[in-house]
This record gives sequence, structure tokens and C-alpha cells, in this order.
Amino acid sequence: MSERRRVEIDINGETYGAEVEPRLLLSDFIRHEAGLTGTHVGCEHGVCGACTVQVDGDPVRSCLMFAVQAQGREVRTVEGMTDGLSEGELHPLQQAFHEKHGLQCGFCTPGFLMSLEPLMLDERDLTDQEIREALAGNLCRCTGYQNIVESVKLARERLRSGAESPAERE
Ligand code: FES
Ligand code: FES
Repeated sequence: MSERRRVEIDINGETYGAEVEPRLLLSDFIRHEAGLTGTHVGCEHGVCGACTVQVDGDPVRSCLMFAVQAQGREVRTVEGMTDGLSEGELHPLQQAFHEKHGLQCGFCTPGFLMSLEPLMLDERDLTDQEIREALAGNLCRCTGYQNIVESVKLARERLRSGAESPAERE
């Protein structure tokens, strides 16, 4: 059996430490050591995108990375999207998914949100094709993707115009 190693990983601005097997996947560290179960695991071999998180700002499949490789990096999971918001308030992208029916069963949704959130910071005009390319690594068995594209467009429109979402106005 391989020797366990101490890792400390910054997830959503908090440090989570544990002694782990070197082969422990980052997805398993996030779910079982940090207890952040919003990150879902589907295929566990890099195909479905359900496990997508951000590492140093970039979307990464957490089932394709070992926990030890995340040492010293900044990891963001879906739970981090509501950091700093008031109770019950959603991130604008989550709110848009809700309004545009960008999810049904929701299993894939955390992975989509993590893949698509960086588009909220992209100030260029994006075509539908560019949005579809950004979500090409995530599989959804329910929505057919068009509503997810519409959700991204709505969130971007709101963020760019500085408009408040209905949830923010309540
Ligand atoms: S669980 Fe990681 S890509 Fe499917
Ligand atoms: S909403 Fe069900 S798999 Fe995407």
C-alpha cells in the first residue's frame, strides 16, 4: 500500500487538510474529505463533465486529477458560487438556469455551472456556437442544451447591463 500524504487544499477560500492516498482523486477529496457534495461524479473517467470544478480559475474535471496535485492551488466548487450572497440568493448564472429551465434532474448542473461561469467574465460578444463550445465537455441527458445556451445568454445580458435579476429585486 502506498504511503499516505498530507495535503491541504484551498476550496472556496477555506483550507481543507487530510492524510490521503496519493491516488485519491480530487473529486473524492472534495466530496468525502471536504464534505462538499455539490460536485457530482458520473463516469469517473473524464467523459461526462459532472465533476467539473475550477482550479486557479479554469474548469477542470476533478475525476482526472489527484488530490495531491491540487496542493497549493485554488479550487472553486459550485458551493462557492453563492459565497457572499444573502441567504437564498443565487448567482446570476444559477438564477438564469432556473428561469430558462436550464436543468431538469440537475445531476449535471454543477459541472455545467463550473464550466460556464468563466463566460460571465468574458466581455466579448459571444455567438451561440462559442457558448456551445464552452459546454461541449459536459453531458446532459435531460435538457437538450438549448435551454442551457439561453441561460448563459440571459445571465451575460444581465451582468453586462448591470440589471438585477428578479431574485435580487425581491
Ligand atoms: S465524473 Fe468526471 S468527467 Fe465524468
Ligand atoms: S438536467 Fe438531468 S442530466 Fe442534465
